[in-house]
Formats: sequence, C-alpha cells, structure tokens
Amino acid sequence: MPTKTIVDASVPNAGRIYDYLLGGHHNFEIDRRTGDRIRATLPALPKVMRMFRWCLQDVATQLTYERGFDTIVDFASGLPTADHMHTAVAPDTKIVYSDRDSVCVEYGQEILGGTPNIVYFQADCRYPDLLLNRPEVQEFLGGKRRVAVIYWGISMFLADEEIRHIAQTLYDWTAPGSVFAFYLQLADAVDPTSSKVIEMYRQMGEELHFRSVEECKELMKPWVADAKGWVPMETWHGIEPLSPEERQQFPQGVGYGVYLVKGE
Ligand SMILES: C[S@@+](CC[C@H](N)C(=O)[O-])C[C@H]1O[C@@H](n2cnc3c(N)ncnc32)[C@H](O)[C@@H]1O
Repeated sequence: MPTKTIVDASVPNAGRIYDYLLGGHHNFEIDRRTGDRIRATLPALPKVMRMFRWCLQDVATQLTYERGFDTIVDFASGLPTADHMHTAVAPDTKIVYSDRDSVCVEYGQEILGGTPNIVYFQADCRYPDLLLNRPEVQEFLGGKRRVAVIYWGISMFLADEEIRHIAQTLYDWTAPGSVFAFYLQLADAVDPTSSKVIEMYRQMGEELHFRSVEECKELMKPWVADAKGWVPMETWHGIEPLSPEERQQFPQGVGYGVYLVKGE
C-alpha cells in the first residue's frame, strides 16, 4: 500500500488527475500540470473519461432500478466526485467504495462525509477477498453475497493473471444471481499517441496493460456475459459518440463494457 497522504501535493496522483480531467475540483497544481500534458497529447481524453463516467452512472441505474440490486461493491473507485455512482443509484442502495490509493480513500471519506449507506475502504482490487472478508464490510453487507460488483476504468492497470485471479475469486465469493460489471479499456501500444500516454503513466509508476475482448473473455471465466454482451463504449445507451477526429486518437476504440453474470 502506498504511504503517501492527502497533504502530499508534491507528486502527481492518478486519482486526482482523473478528477481534474473530469472537471472536478479535488486536485492540486501538480495534478493539473500532468493532466494538461496528457490532454495536449490526447485532446479527446477528457471526453472519453466523461463517457466512462456516464456509463458508470448508467451501470448504477441499471443495476439498482432495472436489476434490483440493493448492494454494490465498487473496486478502484477513485474519488467519489464528478457524478460518481452514488448520485445515480436507487435510494437506500448500500455502496462499498474502495481504492488502493490512500489519497483517494482519505479524500473520498471526507467528500462523502458520513453519507448513510456508503462506506469507503482502502483495498487493493487485485485481492478482492481481502476487502470482501473484512469484518466491517461483512457487517455492512449483513452477510449478503448476492451483490453487484463493479470494476470500471481499472483493467489497464491489471496484468492478465491478476484479472484471472480477480474473476475466479469473485465467482467463488458471490452468491448465484450476482452480477460483475466490468469495463475493458483498449489502446494500441504501437500507436505513437497511445504509447506517449503509456510512457507518462510509466513515469508516475503505473504500468499499463491492454488485451482484446476475446482474450478478456477467456480471463473472465467462469463468468459469462448477459444477453447484452460486450458493448462498445461508443454505442453504450445514451452516450454522445466521438467525432471522426476524436475517433482517430483512439485507433482501437475506447473499450467495452459488460455485465457478467453468475447463474442462479
Ligand atoms: C481511472 S480511475 C477509475 C475510477 C472509477 N472506477 C471510474 O471509473 O470513474 C483508476 C483508479 O484505480 C485505482 N487503482 C489502481 N490500481 C489499483 C489497485 N491495484 N487496487 C485498487 N485501486 C487501484 C487508482 O488509484 C485510481 O483511483
């Protein structure tokens, strides 16, 4: 776990840069400078990130209003600002937010400030059982295991073996009828623009990983997609599409979302 704290404004932080590019206010000068460099390389990135967030809101609505889940466990949540999921769920939905980064956790807890039904814990999403089996989380969930789990905007930070382990662990932990909402990020490592951004993340200590939908389906077993299947972000319900110029910055497309299900 990182030891940096919320007051460390001297190093850029991926969560706060994300917040900045989404138009949020929970970031420092150092984050804004790094965010501006990323935006200069990939001008359409803030719009793409906005798309991720809209989709996440749609996921929150879909899971709670349409599919009847009253409990969501969200991994790698980032900062709960700029219209995060809790602003879109049905009333009284219980949400467990989590992130590995202590900055996001401390800031997140401060932002949520005792909002009923929402907790925010520090957790490494590569080991989901460590969060799910924590006594405080067990107590919060009331022993419930038929839950919706979300991994959104995190796949590029995870190696193949980590994704395989996460999928199996969640499958074993959850009860039948559970849903695992997952977003697969795409990029082309040989494309010069993508590779510049990959290098900027490397300088911040983050190694990025990309794989195809077919490869990811394999890693996600035994989960299977529901009838909607793997939906390209650009055609996700209600999302404003990218213009041809913006599309050119993402030669592989920007990714796919999916509802994976564990049969009853
Ligand atoms: C791009 S943000 C995604 C935020 C949010 N899920 C969304 O879609 O808007 C990625 C977040 O993943 C967190 N993260 C990266 N590696 C992680 C790990 N191994 N465990 C938990 N969180 C991680 C980062 O700290 C950052 O807050």
